Amino acid sequence: MKIPIIIDTDPGIDDAIAILMAFAAKNIDIKAITTVVGNVELEKTTVNALKLVEFSGLDIKVARGSEKHIRREHFSAEWYHGVSGLGNLKFPDPKMKVYEKNAYDTIYEEACKCKGKLKLVCLAPLTNIASTILIYPDIVNKIDSIVLMGGAINGGNDTPAAEFNMYADPEAARIVFNSKIPVTMVGLDVTNRALLYKNEIEEIDKANNKMAKLVAKIATRIYENCAKFNVEGAAMHDPFAMGYVIDSSIMKYKSFHVDVEASSELTRGKTIVDVNNLLNKPTNVNVGVDLDRDAFVSMLKELFI
Ligand code: RIB
Ligand code: CA
Repeated sequence: MKIPIIIDTDPGIDDAIAILMAFAAKNIDIKAITTVVGNVELEKTTVNALKLVEFSGLDIKVARGSEKHIRREHFSAEWYHGVSGLGNLKFPDPKMKVYEKNAYDTIYEEACKCKGKLKLVCLAPLTNIASTILIYPDIVNKIDSIVLMGGAINGGNDTPAAEFNMYADPEAARIVFNSKIPVTMVGLDVTNRALLYKNEIEEIDKANNKMAKLVAKIATRIYENCAKFNVEGAAMHDPFAMGYVIDSSIMKYKSFHVDVEASSELTRGKTIVDVNNLLNKPTNVNVGVDLDRDAFVSMLKELFI
């Protein structure tokens, strides 16, 4: 039985690899891709999603979501993802159109059709998911679970305290973490270690197929970005979260109570993971604490080579 998912995304070069993984995975049934403002503006994330679907030749609907975060101003991450959001990659202008329903109606429609089995794979700020919960409160009983790339037990990559997806829309993150939908948080504690090394990128590039060539090109751009921070390897943030959906054995998690700081400017977006249960609150999130990087890289090779 394939796993029915919706990918909520802000492509985004690492999102792109995660989406290509889902295209290639035999145990995944992509019900829709929903786009949101994040790495770049909504117009660009939506066009990028259309380009990736068209590149794959698959019949997958792309539904537009939020062009603005719940309260916070959008700051583009073009410096990392390129002005287009897909690095300097060139794709033909997409012929396919966006789905006639917006992201929120699409998520709700698919959740109802999947009768509680739908998994949301969230690779972006959580604005669409929070908006769907606000519009359709009963959706919390219609979703199997959420796997999200975001947050961290320690540290951040947008500020010293916060990871980008949480920082961009902390109000949305609070709504999702407190929604009672089962959440698995694939945070920087594992994704910063989900590095793809140069020789592994070259091995994927040697494969004689267009998906592998594209993955290698994107991974090279990520590798170059990471090198600027003295990290020797391409940090596979979103791809690792998608890898966990495909095969959960690549990550170990522990259950904690997690909430998100949305009042302080200094620590805005920090995921407060109560590792010592000091607040004595019920656990609500499975938090990634360790990974099998080699198994993840083997998965990439199996998917693309
Ligand atoms: O912190 C990494 C996350 O922020 C990834 O989802 C990346 O695409 C950016 O959106
Ligand atoms: Ca992303």
